[in-house]
Amino acid sequence: MAASRLSHALTSGALSLPDAGVIALFNAKGDSDLAALPEGRLVAIERHYPEVAALRARGIATAPAPEGPIAAALVFLPRARAEAEALLAEALAATDGPVIVDGQKTDGIDTMLKAVKARAEVRGVTAKAHGKCFEIAPGTDLSDWRAGAPAPNADGFLTLPGVFSADGIDPASRLLAAHLPETLTGRAADLGAGWGYLSSELARREGLTELHLVEADAHALDCARANLDDPRARFHWADARDWRDDAPFDLVVCNPPFHSGRAADPALGRAFIAAAARLLAPSGRLYLVANRQLPYETTLEQYFARVESLGGDARFKLFVAQRPTRRPRA
Ligand SMILES: C[S@@+](CC[C@H](N)C(=O)[O-])C[C@H]1O[C@@H](n2cnc3c(N)ncnc32)[C@H](O)[C@@H]1O
Repeated sequence: MAASRLSHALTSGALSLPDAGVIALFNAKGDSDLAALPEGRLVAIERHYPEVAALRARGIATAPAPEGPIAAALVFLPRARAEAEALLAEALAATDGPVIVDGQKTDGIDTMLKAVKARAEVRGVTAKAHGKCFEIAPGTDLSDWRAGAPAPNADGFLTLPGVFSADGIDPASRLLAAHLPETLTGRAADLGAGWGYLSSELARREGLTELHLVEADAHALDCARANLDDPRARFHWADARDWRDDAPFDLVVCNPPFHSGRAADPALGRAFIAAAARLLAPSGRLYLVANRQLPYETTLEQYFARVESLGGDARFKLFVAQRPTRRPRA
């Protein structure tokens, strides 16, 4: 939908891109339709590792931050307002050329257009397919929208807008932390570590020798680095579903993601359970929390010979799973 709008705006001449030079894409997704854009001149600035992998698989160059001269930028509007503002400011700072913004109504494009219009010259507004795209005139300064450094949330942890549970500790993770044994030893991994809450709880256990935080969102991992000043901590910007390490783990903790974009996707959580089974030593244990409605029991039983419920509350359920197997039982 978004792509047909952008293609329409570019092919109709409502919006245009310079004939030469690099075009930076902010928040492009692995499945974004980029057909109307000049192949070979695109570089995607992307913080989510699975998207980086998907964009690279399509032959699109990626970078964690803009580098060198950029002729124009294209921002695919995210839903979180602070994150959207920060991306626009980053795109405007990266180029002296046009910055095109494309977004769905449901992601707040109308509010954003109004906010930008109040501060800058806007051209080529094109409405189509439940959204809009428009160009912000070159030279516009929205630097006061730039993301700041990680700042303390309600629970005193450092976070950035747009990361999971930025405002405070996630209640499911808090519940899991309350059920972790006081004595834990060996090598631990936190899959989908976010800004590091569960890992910070693990770090209180002196018996743990290594603490590996695996997280797809580079911003969340930056926050985790700021929250965890512990020599045992190792930070991995990676897709937990296929992340590997040289040695097996004694412990995995996980509050798995269950959304791909906006859609609920229990397959993500199932893939995290399979990854935990693959990473654990035969004597290792997985501690997992999930929303009550998520159907993980069968997957846990396929990948672990022993699965125990640790109870939970009205919203969340807790499990400890032992004796992992790499190949799922039928
Ligand atoms: C439910 S949150 C839990 C975050 C953190 N453990 C906490 O307790 O606050 C799930 C986390 O998984 C991350 N995530 C999503 N997909 C991922 C993937 N494929 N690989 C690694 N992390 C992923 C999200 O960015 C998010 O930080």
